[in-house]
Amino acid sequence: MNLVFHGHSCIQLADGERSIIIDPFLSGNPVAKAKAEDIQVQYILLTHGHSDHTADAEAIARANDATIVATYELATYYSWKGLKTIGMNIGGTVDLGFARAKLVHAFHSSSFISDDSQSIIYAGMPGGFIMDWNGITLYHAGDTSLFGDMKMFGELYDIDYAVLPIGDILTMGPEDALIAAKWLQAKNVIPVHHSTFPGIAQNAAAFTAQLKEQGIEGLALQPGDQLTLVAAS
Ligand code: NI
Ligand code: MN
Repeated sequence: MNLVFHGHSCIQLADGERSIIIDPFLSGNPVAKAKAEDIQVQYILLTHGHSDHTADAEAIARANDATIVATYELATYYSWKGLKTIGMNIGGTVDLGFARAKLVHAFHSSSFISDDSQSIIYAGMPGGFIMDWNGITLYHAGDTSLFGDMKMFGELYDIDYAVLPIGDILTMGPEDALIAAKWLQAKNVIPVHHSTFPGIAQNAAAFTAQLKEQGIEGLALQPGDQLTLVAAS
């Protein structure tokens, strides 16, 4: 099983022909290597509505006849565009046939903001996903602060890979993400949501060095990097 980091918070998981993309933000992403038209997936998982997580959701869904999986409000928004959707809410798990995804809470906001009309459309609660695929448990935290229930996730799930934001300002920064990694008891941590723009520049190598001191493997991926995922025994 394979993971590709597309920059910002966008990761793609694949096992042969089966593939899922989370938070597609390629168009307008200054660090992305892939283009939306290159992406082949069956499912698009969205943690929340902000454009740096949803920019290419519609285009990828149309090109692939793929299904968008998101909170009920966000899924409804895309269903109005004629796309296939699965609407969920916090605490629910969806069986995608080859993988399961549980929508868990995150502390953030979720909306579509139009500067032109100075309007904000509510997009439901923000969330994260705990995925189970081929015996590998991967937690994508979405955009969030540190929160105490990450301890609970660590107790309830055997997290092989945690994808955590470290950019600060809009999400938790590296200090809180280090605490999150410990609370989650994650075996591997992939720092994301940093260095896409100057305002969220971070030193991912320094972060992974701090993780290592805690006995946690940190994987500071560059946009376009691929990783073979393995379940810890
Ligand atoms: Ni956001
Ligand atoms: Mn974001």
